[in-house]
Amino acid sequence: MFDSFLSHSMMKRAIEKKLVRISARSLRDFTRDRHKSCDDKPFGGGPGMLMKPEPIFEAVEELWGRIPAPAGGGSASGGKKTVHFAKRRRFIYMTPQGVPFDQRKAEDLSRSRHLVFLCGRYEGVDQRVVDRLVTDEISIGDYVLTGGEVPAMVVIDAVVRLLKGVMGSEASKSFESFSHNLLEYPQYTRPATYRGMRVPQVLLSGNHREIERWRKEEAVQRTLKRRPDILKKQESRQCTP
Ligand code: ADE
Repeated sequence: MFDSFLSHSMMKRAIEKKLVRISARSLRDFTRDRHKSCDDKPFGGGPGMLMKPEPIFEAVEELWGRIPAPAGGGSASGGKKTVHFAKRRRFIYMTPQGVPFDQRKAEDLSRSRHLVFLCGRYEGVDQRVVDRLVTDEISIGDYVLTGGEVPAMVVIDAVVRLLKGVMGSEASKSFESFSHNLLEYPQYTRPATYRGMRVPQVLLSGNHREIERWRKEEAVQRTLKRRPDILKKQESRQCTP
């Protein structure tokens, strides 16, 4: 799944320019049984299968070294502490139970040095993995996909394009939706008339103040109509003392 994603467009260029290194690993490589099983039935019964803890802990240990045993004997509830990995390392579990992903989170992750994405499959993962290893649980939206691979690619794309040197123009990035808490205004290119549809006159006027005003108004109207929640969030932030 990742080969195609990593070999095109922005991601390909970022890798070729050595601005980022990305590798995908299969948890099956960290199993010890004949069937290379990564899942098992949940204790207490219930539908579906869960991801087993052992391949995940061993994969993390291969990357980041030995994980210390939990303090206090290590009962599941007593050991409820994420391992303190070296600073700027994150272990991200992609799950519909996670915190909704947004541009702010992308910016936060782009400042970390090493990200590992655990792509969930089946009904979920043994809770000890979450308690002990996971630093972030992220959802890309209120819907359920068959696995965390596509969600991980969504997050990786949003993060990598923020890395210095990846995108052509730094200015175009910071001007985009969400950094400004507004959706983008409509844009047009040539021809000025196409199949009877004309580009708004103001954009052809050369009057930059008027163009700026028009764009701001369009962005606000579009945001009000499609995403009033964004404007409300902004309002309540401004009202907080
Ligand atoms: N895995 C399955 N569905 C998901 C979602 N909506 N977000 C993140 N990971 C997922």
